[in-house]
Amino acid sequence: MADYTELVKLALEAREMSYSPYSKFKVGAALLTKGGKVYKGCNIENASYTPTNCAERTAFFKAVSEGETEFEAIAIVGGHSDQDELEFCAPCGVCRQVIREFCDDDFKIVLLTSNKGGELKYDVYDLPEILPFGFGPKDMRIKPR
Ligand code: THU
Repeated sequence: MADYTELVKLALEAREMSYSPYSKFKVGAALLTKGGKVYKGCNIENASYTPTNCAERTAFFKAVSEGETEFEAIAIVGGHSDQDELEFCAPCGVCRQVIREFCDDDFKIVLLTSNKGGELKYDVYDLPEILPFGFGPKDMRIKPR
C-alpha cells in the first residue's frame, strides 16, 4: 500500500486555513491527482450557514476548475479548533457524492486516525466502501470530463 504520510501532512497544513468561526470545527483536505499534483482545501463557513463548503469539496472544486480530471487519493483531517489530538473525521455524504462524480472505484480516501505525539496514523478506504451503491455519472451514461 502506498505511503500517504506526506498527503496527510498537506491536509493538516490545509486545516490551518479553515474558516470556521461558527462550528469551530476545522477540516483540511489534500487531493492528489494521477499526475502527482496536490490541491489543498479547507472548510469555509458562512453566517447564513447553508453556503458552507466542506474541505473536501473546496479541494475538488479548486482542482476541477483548473482542468484536472484524474484523481488518485484524498487525505482528510478534522477536529475542533481547541483539539490538538485529532481523531477520525469521515467525509460527509455530500462530499462522498462529489467524490463519486469525479473518481473511479479505486480512488483512495485516507483518513487520519491519530496524530498523538506527532506520529501520523491513518486508514485507507476505497470509494465503494464509503459510498456503497453510489449513484454517479455512469448511471447517467455520462463520462465526466
Ligand atoms: N466539514 C467538512 O469540511 N468536511 C466534512 O466532511 C465534514 C464537515 C465541515 C463543515 C463545517 O464547516 C464543519 O465541518 C462542521 O460541520
